[in-house]
Amino acid sequence: MRGQDLSTPYYLIDEARLASNMEKIARLRELSGAKVLLALKCFAAWSVFDKMAPFMDGTTSSSLHEVRLGQEKFGGETHAYCVAWADDEVSAAARRADKIIFNSIAQFERFKRKTRKASVGLRLNPRISASDFELADPAQPFSRLGEWDPKKVEAVVDRLSGFTLHYNCDNAEFDLFDEQLFLVEKRFGALFSKVEWVSLGGGVLFTGEGYPLEKFARRLKAFSEKHDVCVYLEPGEAAITDAATLEVTVLDLLNNGKDLAIVDASVEAHMLDLLIYGTSARMSPDQGPHHYRICGRSCLAGDVFGEFDFPAPLKVGDRLSILDAAGYSMVKKNWFNGMKMPAIAIRAKDGTIRVVREFTYREYVKSLS
Ligand SMILES: Cc1ncc(COP(=O)(O)O)c(C=O)c1O
Repeated sequence: MRGQDLSTPYYLIDEARLASNMEKIARLRELSGAKVLLALKCFAAWSVFDKMAPFMDGTTSSSLHEVRLGQEKFGGETHAYCVAWADDEVSAAARRADKIIFNSIAQFERFKRKTRKASVGLRLNPRISASDFELADPAQPFSRLGEWDPKKVEAVVDRLSGFTLHYNCDNAEFDLFDEQLFLVEKRFGALFSKVEWVSLGGGVLFTGEGYPLEKFARRLKAFSEKHDVCVYLEPGEAAITDAATLEVTVLDLLNNGKDLAIVDASVEAHMLDLLIYGTSARMSPDQGPHHYRICGRSCLAGDVFGEFDFPAPLKVGDRLSILDAAGYSMVKKNWFNGMKMPAIAIRAKDGTIRVVREFTYREYVKSLS
């Protein structure tokens, strides 16, 4: 099937682009010895897990549902982390997980007897900021994400087998990563050598164009050797960056002081992070003399994808391709306004497209009661 034969809206996952990220991940693993887990919170479209699993070591999660999805559909190692586990979840998570990670010493003490054979970890918060957005910054004041105080952790470290940290956010600068890792080592280095593994979390954009992968690998290897630990990374965004688009159709055009085009999707329902962080979508093409504001069709006044340039005037029925729609989009889509939910389709390396999921009125009804 070709794209023009499908009705919009749909997320289109591109296997060739995904493969290019996977090759970089495989190279990083080989050069550094680090293990790499997919962060399911970012991307959980399981129809392409078979194209990712051979290049990664497993998954990490934020909830019991993600633990189960990772174990059933991805395989490899399953890491179970949650900001706060509920009493009835820990045994079920530990049954499926290789490692269970607690966010606080209090949760560790409360649930440690339920962890069975799973290796037990604790989240540390180095209070280092690498985010432009306070909302996404684990080092924000009074952050609940992990334990801050090395002294408190020292008291329980002999009963832990590892630590998880996550303090990077869309960090594309190797030098910044390097500098901040020194600060992390300064704060927690004495604890690292007492455990078997340390996960440095996600947020490093190491699959990006021009990122010095070899330097990054050397730094991870040196860290692993210095502290005698197995190093994990938990990429979400870096694993799937640019691997999907949101394909939409222009439904209406108007000019209220600016040329506006309304498409058959919504920022709020289908690419929510753009709204949360106040950032613009990216569009292809984005060049030419005709400038438009591309708007979603929900009732929200600010449902706007961004402003873009086109080579020719837009017409009702034109197809547009919104870029970089894989991460934190499909996992956050919602039924706001009861709008048609984008289908999920996959473009194989030979260019053929298959639809792997369509959503109907029944699913909308079933999402409520
Ligand atoms: C603990 C943890 N690991 C991994 C990730 C994935 O981060 P990213 O998608 O920026 O790589 C996150 C994101 O919030 C996280 O909180």
